[in-house]
Amino acid sequence: MNGISLHDLSSGQKASFADVSRGLGSPQKELPCKLFYDEYGSQLFEQITTLDEYYPTRAELRIMRAASAEMASRLGPECVLLEYGSGSSLKTRILLDQLERPAAYVPIDISRELLQQSADELARAYRGLRVFPVWADYTRGLDLPRELPAGKRRVAYYPGSTIGNFVPDEARRFLTGIARVCGRDGGLLIGVDLKKDPLMLHRAYNDALGITARFNLNILTRLNRELGANFAVDQFRHYAFYNPVFARVEMHLVSLSEQVVRVNDVDFHFDRGESIWTEASYKYSPTEFATLAASAGWHVQQVWTDDRGLFSVQFLTVAG
Ligand code: AVI
Repeated sequence: MNGISLHDLSSGQKASFADVSRGLGSPQKELPCKLFYDEYGSQLFEQITTLDEYYPTRAELRIMRAASAEMASRLGPECVLLEYGSGSSLKTRILLDQLERPAAYVPIDISRELLQQSADELARAYRGLRVFPVWADYTRGLDLPRELPAGKRRVAYYPGSTIGNFVPDEARRFLTGIARVCGRDGGLLIGVDLKKDPLMLHRAYNDALGITARFNLNILTRLNRELGANFAVDQFRHYAFYNPVFARVEMHLVSLSEQVVRVNDVDFHFDRGESIWTEASYKYSPTEFATLAASAGWHVQQVWTDDRGLFSVQFLTVAG
């Protein structure tokens, strides 16, 4: 069985050599964190979300379970729910269980396998719900399927604090783009990770089982496979730390030796100890996030947090 058909805006989703050579050619080498999410990387990320040390997923789930009825009434009846980075759609089910007659559900994800599987499962679990999966890199902007019901309120759902993986300027641009897609009456339900004890943050990105390390290093294996690179993966070390000056966790891959790596016939030199910066994960105070949202045309209506104040889910509307 093929399942429901995907709206394909992916252009194949191979790592782009242009992005990679720009990143590795910079004085501070870097790679875009979206490269983590090939099939294996997406599975590793799912494992991360179950780790003892990785508090965000559990905290967000607790908030969703406690407040989903209230959230659903904020979203209102018959909305079109657009989920950016839907993954396994686990949290969405908690919301869908409470939503009043949703007009459609549009999961958008870069991981084709996960998207197809969860779209099929949701369509089976919620009889009558119209599901329009879109396979796309949503950071590049997107055209929605033309068949979407017209004249209904559009609400974006962006859980997981993935907004933290954008630097603030990009986050502003991205949130502005969502406001445009949702239109005048639009809404946004978003997960935002909060500032906290740096040791707790350190543990969350340096788990004892080494799954986060594997997730980080997998980016090199992916480049070897997709761009014919020759990274010696065991010559790089996963290194993650919280930088309180910028309020972000930084993940790096640090070269353990002086070496030259060839990607697509281009050589990149690494000094011993030189790093590739692979991810930033920004943490916000509620006030800081409200300021960022306002600069992107959103107004925060309500903020829900867990009882330890680790994580927040926020409902925003397009500022009139
Ligand atoms: C997807 N994103 C919100 C995760 C985060 O915490 O920034 C990705 C991640 N990186 C390491 N662990 C999890």
